[in-house]
Amino acid sequence: MNRLMNKTAVITGAASGMGRATAELFAREGATVVVTDLNEELGSDVVAAITSKGGQARFWQLNVAREDDVARVYQEVGAEFGTIDILINCAGIIGVDKPTHELSEAEWDSLFAVDVKGVFFSTKHAVPYMIRQNAGSIVNFSSIYGLTGNEEFTAYHVAKGAVTMQTKQDAAVYGKYNIRVNSVHPSTVLTPLVEGIANAFPGGIVQYEKVNTANQSIRRLGVPLDVAYAVLYLASDESAWVTGVNLPIDGGFMAR
Ligand SMILES: NC(=O)c1ccc[n+]([C@@H]2O[C@H](COP(=O)([O-])OP(=O)(O)OC[C@H]3O[C@@H](n4cnc5c(N)ncnc54)[C@H](O)[C@@H]3O)[C@@H](O)[C@H]2O)c1
Repeated sequence: MNRLMNKTAVITGAASGMGRATAELFAREGATVVVTDLNEELGSDVVAAITSKGGQARFWQLNVAREDDVARVYQEVGAEFGTIDILINCAGIIGVDKPTHELSEAEWDSLFAVDVKGVFFSTKHAVPYMIRQNAGSIVNFSSIYGLTGNEEFTAYHVAKGAVTMQTKQDAAVYGKYNIRVNSVHPSTVLTPLVEGIANAFPGGIVQYEKVNTANQSIRRLGVPLDVAYAVLYLASDESAWVTGVNLPIDGGFMAR
């Protein structure tokens, strides 16, 4: 119950899916959770759900693609809570499903603004707090798509590949300040991000699950808590000697 006692954790994209599951789990483990998201209504729901169970949480509306927004929010969080111990870079979008020769510059840029620059901006503005206290843990949401290629969502693959390398690079740079940086790489997890795609799939969600898990050892779609538990370990002091790790949470997809 107290794995994150006395820690302040900022989570981006915390209004939905895996960000929400992580926020609720962190609160149960004693963290003060800073729920941030573009979506104010859903983000406020998450805070209400946490505080109704006796947890500590506050919502900030935040667009991770805008540096001025990120800088302001993290400054306000620091003023309110004194520091930032944990940063979870979860906000992400999947963008259009096109191959390279069909992608427009605008489609590429809008995806990279959130999935790549969002991680960069949040890390940039959280790290100074961590340097000051000589401690911190950052967990980035990449994907199995950031580790290997396939025939779909090209821009998303490339963006998540950038997050994989941002993780290794920041782990290499910030270790001297006792700041750890790791990433999680889910395969398909049933969240609002993929529900629309799954429902539109020929044969519906049943067929979607069959096709999408065919290369996994454990042939079911993930649920948000499957990933949130891994994020909890990486965020907590239990992983004090773990940094620069790109951890698949994927039912065994990457093992094959
Ligand atoms: N669901 C999957 O199968 C899957 C697999 C691998 C990786 N991921 C990654 O996991 C992370 C979470 O995905 P999810 O499936 O829980 O998605 P989700 O759509 O349920 O939640 C994503 C959240 O990010 C927020 N968001 C989007 N753009 C934002 C912005 N510019 N600024 C702030 N918030 C923004 C959304 O409002 C939403 O609340 C994403 O980075 C995603 O790419 C998802």
